[in-house]
Amino acid sequence: MESQIYAIAQQKGGVGKTTTTINLCAALAEDGKKVLAVDLDPQGALSDGLGVPPEELDITVYNALCDSELPMASVIVELENYHLLPANIDLSAAEIQLLNEPGRDSILKERLSEVKDNYDYILIDCPPSLGLLTLNALVAAEKVIIPVQTSYFSLRGMDQLLETVKKVRSRLNKALTIKGILPTMFNRQTNHSQLSLQNIKENYQELVFDTVIPYTVKLQDSVLSSQGITQYQPQSEAAKAYRSLVKEIYGN
Ligand SMILES: Nc1ncnc2c1ncn2[C@@H]1O[C@H](COP(=O)(O)OP(=O)(O)OP(=O)(O)O)[C@@H](O)[C@H]1O
Ligand SMILES: [Mg+2]
Repeated sequence: MESQIYAIAQQKGGVGKTTTTINLCAALAEDGKKVLAVDLDPQGALSDGLGVPPEELDITVYNALCDSELPMASVIVELENYHLLPANIDLSAAEIQLLNEPGRDSILKERLSEVKDNYDYILIDCPPSLGLLTLNALVAAEKVIIPVQTSYFSLRGMDQLLETVKKVRSRLNKALTIKGILPTMFNRQTNHSQLSLQNIKENYQELVFDTVIPYTVKLQDSVLSSQGITQYQPQSEAAKAYRSLVKEIYGN
């Protein structure tokens, strides 16, 4: 099986990285794809959102990164519709602990190579920083999805992120491409949202997905119920948006 690895990255916090990871996993699984969700954020929000309480875990992605002998199968949690490589606060130590490790930026890639053939898609939810964890995700991935909130100042920091992607591509991972910039939390009723979306499209043109994720509390509720929006409210506008994003992911 040829798996595709995606990093969902953006150093700005609260832009919809985790929400996008959860809902893409759900929408891909709904389509019969085998999916592994990787939580690479010490906050553990992805694990939590998929119904795996991070604070109750003894073995997480942290152990997988710091102990290359540890079998990946002992870390991966098999959920009903997809698998999860979970994280909790332990992961915050990894950034310092791995600093002196040779090949420190490709450890995740190496670990995922052991299980990659079991999946059609591997989605990595990055923390809100451009540190060693995000770097590991960008080295492991072939494609990056960059969620951007449709609000003022949301493009601050984008140049730095795109520059990082460029450097990773030239130095560490030639295969890395930007799959797309994903406008999130769009509220069609406000000028603010409309103008911000226009601004994102003007700045990044063909890099921007056609799909725009609407602002809706249903997305917040669906996470609380440990479901993707496509299961929680299959006919909602947000469910349609995530299904349409999946179609864009299938296309080139
Ligand atoms: N489209 C949306 N409509 C309404 N609320 C949303 C939407 N997307 C995300 N949210 C909410 O916004 C908050 C931040 O979203 P999320 O956790 O997905 O962002 P993040 O980029 O992963 O954040 P962090 O950088 O902290 O990891 C959450 O409370 C989430 O429920
Ligand atoms: Mg997050």
